[in-house]
Amino acid sequence: MKEIKTIEFKDDILYLIDQRKLPIAYEIFQCKDYRDVDFAIKDMVVRGAPAIGATAAYGVVLAAKEFLNEEKEVFLSKMDEALNILNNSRPTAVNLMWAIGKMRRLIEENKDLSIEEIYQKIREEADRIYEDDIKTNKAMAKHGNEVIKEGATILTHCNTGALATVGYGTALGVVREAHYSGKNIFVYADETRPRLQGGRLTAWELVQEGIPAKLIADNVAATLIRDGKIDVILVGADRIASNGDTANKIGTFMLSVVAKAYNVPFYIVAPTSTIDFDIESGQGIEIEERDSTEVTHIEGIRVAPEGIDVYNPAFDVTPWENITGIITEKGIIRAPYKENIMKLKED
Ligand code: MRU
Repeated sequence: MKEIKTIEFKDDILYLIDQRKLPIAYEIFQCKDYRDVDFAIKDMVVRGAPAIGATAAYGVVLAAKEFLNEEKEVFLSKMDEALNILNNSRPTAVNLMWAIGKMRRLIEENKDLSIEEIYQKIREEADRIYEDDIKTNKAMAKHGNEVIKEGATILTHCNTGALATVGYGTALGVVREAHYSGKNIFVYADETRPRLQGGRLTAWELVQEGIPAKLIADNVAATLIRDGKIDVILVGADRIASNGDTANKIGTFMLSVVAKAYNVPFYIVAPTSTIDFDIESGQGIEIEERDSTEVTHIEGIRVAPEGIDVYNPAFDVTPWENITGIITEKGIIRAPYKENIMKLKED
């Protein structure tokens, strides 16, 4: 398996694979302070819920480093400002708020220590988030592999691979596991308009590893499902409400409706850090709207007429009724979701 280093923190610089450039160019984007990290998340140099969470954690490390020589009160107030800026860099993926929340509590609980000691704790926490993500993904992949049959054809949406996480991936992690355990799987990857995370990123990861696959335009998926060509659909999540409603890349809901109509199993693969225990249903999830040029332009070239208005939500919510199971690092959760998700919180 080829190692893809989506995120790397070395000598006080955060190195990110620039996902805006793939697959045409492989470039590394350097974040030297937390403002660069804010930009990298906003502009989608790095994207995918768990990757955003880990990136933001290192943003907090960079902020703490920058303010190391301030008076304690100034340090705390500047850190508060940095935490708020990072927390607002994108609205839907809850792993971001989860990572920032961890950092905020850590600073609060240790505010009487020296700034150097607080910095050390922040650094250790960021490293823990980073390392845990890979372990979590591998555990999810093992659980997920149980629902993949020998010779299965799997449909994926967006990019849920190493590029969307610290490594290995969520839904694409299950694909990896099934492939490397010799199940002879085949993948259809939705290209995922408007930003083409499937066409640019998932296809790149699949090609890198020689996993048998075909890239399809999003509108092909329903026909494949109706014709019995798909055995299972695996997607990731940006936020899961406590009743199981799941926000993921725009187009996921549509897939879930077709899957239900033709009895094709539809699984969400996500770490428990993607669960927002504080919201009751998908109605509480803020859906990011992105720039209209993502729809009107392709690679900087206008493909829609001047003057047309655009609606460009980045995510949609799949109701729990359409979900066969949620594959987490702690096992596969099935309906009744409300009860079973709450049990995870108690763990
Ligand atoms: O807008 P993006 O590219 O950040 O959206 C990513 C997705 O929707 C993924 O499916 C999701 O983050 C889960 S993958 C680990």
